[in-house]
Amino acid sequence: MAIESRSGDGLTASRRALIVPTMTAPMLRLNQRAIDLSEVDPAESLLRWLRRRQHLTGTKEGCGDGDCGACTVALLERDAQGRGRYRAVNACLLPMGLMAGRDVLTVEALADGEQLHPVQQAMVDSAGSQCGYCTPGFVMSLFAGYYDGEFSDHVIEGNLCRCTGYQSIRRAAASLALLRREPDRFSDSLQRAPEAGDEPATPGGWQAPSTLAQALALKAEHPRAQWIAGATDLGVALSRGLPLPGQMIAVDRVRELHQLQIDEHSVRIGAAVPLSRLETELAGVFPALDQMLPWFAARQVKNRATLGGNLGSASPIGDLLPWLLAQDAVVEVQSAAGARELPVDGYFLDYRKTALRPDELIVAVRVPRSCAIQAAYKVAKRQTDDISIVAAVYVLALDDQRRISHVRLAYGGVAAIPRRALAVEQYLHGRVLDPDTVSAACELLRQEYTPLSDHRGSADYRRALVASLFAKFVEEQVS
Ligand SMILES: Cc1cc2nc3c(=O)[nH]c(=O)nc-3n(C[C@H](O)[C@H](O)[C@H](O)COP(=O)(O)OP(=O)(O)OC[C@H]3O[C@@H](n4cnc5c(N)ncnc54)[C@H](O)[C@@H]3O)c2cc1C
Ligand code: FES
Ligand code: FES
Repeated sequence: MAIESRSGDGLTASRRALIVPTMTAPMLRLNQRAIDLSEVDPAESLLRWLRRRQHLTGTKEGCGDGDCGACTVALLERDAQGRGRYRAVNACLLPMGLMAGRDVLTVEALADGEQLHPVQQAMVDSAGSQCGYCTPGFVMSLFAGYYDGEFSDHVIEGNLCRCTGYQSIRRAAASLALLRREPDRFSDSLQRAPEAGDEPATPGGWQAPSTLAQALALKAEHPRAQWIAGATDLGVALSRGLPLPGQMIAVDRVRELHQLQIDEHSVRIGAAVPLSRLETELAGVFPALDQMLPWFAARQVKNRATLGGNLGSASPIGDLLPWLLAQDAVVEVQSAAGARELPVDGYFLDYRKTALRPDELIVAVRVPRSCAIQAAYKVAKRQTDDISIVAAVYVLALDDQRRISHVRLAYGGVAAIPRRALAVEQYLHGRVLDPDTVSAACELLRQEYTPLSDHRGSADYRRALVASLFAKFVEEQVS
């Protein structure tokens, strides 16, 4: 057997090649200027670093939780086709440990001397600002929309304004839609977007591998390190000053985790594919996903949030989890010791406890395609950008006699874990879907869960929703 010698840092040569790919200083391009990040605290948010260390106070702090959009900046990235794109993201959620190798623009970079950028000018011309606190965030969201040619409400749905009222801001967006975009220094920069998978050095001992093999080798070397992807869950914890393990392994640049493969039987979604990509590239493939994604956070969050992170957090109110349950999805996981496949029904064990072993990484999720009738519902206090009171996803197929040949009823927000209503599914299977069956199923559904009461809704309200959403589904989709 060949024995590999270890170097002074205790690593074998092959493992060293995998996990120590570069020794250059961690660098960030900020407003078209290169900045050395060697001394930054990786757990400090980009927002606080911009304001406190760079004195760029145009980017504002409102909520610090990803909800208000006051901290919006633009990340210059390449999309799946390799085209440069500006992505609006919340600086309050992005830890500096993820920023090496990135290219960031803040509101300070937009004007050219006295000459405002067209999106700034549109806000001025439409009287889109009063106190101005929210304005830099709106401007940066519109800026990203400007270079994508998109000015729908979705572009600014993650930005809150307390005093102007939204009409004048929407007018600014509408006027931009009519404008002919001339080439400028920002459109030129799109050609120079960082290449996906470039291997950056990272500050503070965080790691940013670009291949799956590197990520797994790093985890084997540092078993206590934690995965971090889009940071839309972990970023909230960081922003609130909650401690994280000293070392993080960022998987948001791992090439294999960005694959999205669609064939006639199933779709394989890489764990680090941002949800905004699912919105566009899977549009029309899964009707229930099309219905759920518009209710899932706002554009800035969806530009970073991932399916791997939703499964990693395993929150009982993770909105994509009932969808995965209803679709009989399979989670592909891997560690240095090998690969496993976990049916998603069985993945959730207890409150935020899963079948994932500590050394395992979620690599992808395979979702079977079917012609069954499907729909998703999310009930929350606000229409957009709010946490679910109850989420439900239904998949149902009938035979020629209207007998139920396949049924999945999956819920979030009504138990410690997202869970299917197995007893009710069993009751329904093989029955004719008539009004008696529906009302008996609704009665059973009311008994299936014992939800908690909290400030969002009482247990009784949640139980009522579990039943009435199913009745609504049958009424809207099947009758
Ligand atoms: C303003 C706001 C609104 C939100 N709205 C919604 C909403 O409507 N619905 C909803 O469900 N959620 C919502 N979220 C929560 C969050 O966006 C989602 O849970 C998202 O899917 C997390 O993905 P991420 O990549 O950002 O995870 P991260 O924050 O990077 O990680 C979350 C957890 O998953 C683990 N993890 C990440 N990737 C992997 C992997 N590949 N393998 C193993 N473990 C992994 C991490 O270690 C961590 O424990 C919202 C968050 C914010 C800030
Ligand atoms: S400060 Fe509110 S979204 Fe970042
Ligand atoms: S202009 Fe004051 S909050 Fe929007």
